[in-house]
Amino acid sequence: MRKGIENMKIVLNHKCNLTKNEFLAYQQAFAKIKTAHDIVMCPSSLYLPLFHLENISLGSQDVSTYEMGAHTGEISASQLKEMNVEYTIVGHSERRSDFDEKDNDIKEKIAKLLAQGITPILCVGETSKEREKGERIEVIKRQLSILSSFDTKKIIIAYEPVWAIGTGLVPTVEELDEVLTSIHFSYPESLLLYGGSASDENIEYLKTSQEIDGYLLGGLSLKLEKLQVFLDLC
Ligand code: PGA
Repeated sequence: MRKGIENMKIVLNHKCNLTKNEFLAYQQAFAKIKTAHDIVMCPSSLYLPLFHLENISLGSQDVSTYEMGAHTGEISASQLKEMNVEYTIVGHSERRSDFDEKDNDIKEKIAKLLAQGITPILCVGETSKEREKGERIEVIKRQLSILSSFDTKKIIIAYEPVWAIGTGLVPTVEELDEVLTSIHFSYPESLLLYGGSASDENIEYLKTSQEIDGYLLGGLSLKLEKLQVFLDLC
């Protein structure tokens, strides 16, 4: 964690998981979690109106590039705002790969969110092929270049190597520090999260990096006992 930052920002990405009843039971169990860290919960958008936890911020997993109007199936930033959403994940690798989302779409989403006062959490990260070819820094710089026209202190950046998401693999602290230092150098005002198989088993190792301001958690966000251990350790 960087100097001057008191609490970690922990973002929980539920992805497309949990039935309605499972979400309600999850929330009930979550109320017993104890932590001083800042938690942002990003459930399925269907459950945003069911969210009722105190001292936890609500986030969404995506937003439309469009404003309200004739855009079937979309959810606009102003609609999210009305549901008390304070943060929105954009550019997650699953959206880039499964929905062919491009940097320009992501830039548009960030503009729409900022106009509503919602904090974008921009995910960036290299694939295993790009890593093998030594293109890591170049790829991340390209993905971040869409930020040039925005006030970056209002944007959170999440470094999520694609090859680490859901695989149990994490970068070495040397690899992490190389990437994170270069992001901090260009965007010193943005909070910087790490995401990709972060867990109660590797947090002691990950936290030896001095550059991480928080974590974006996928799988672990659904396992509350392990999440509590993680929060106690980080
Ligand atoms: P994971 O997912 O923690 O399950 O690797 C992280 C993410 O996709 O944001």
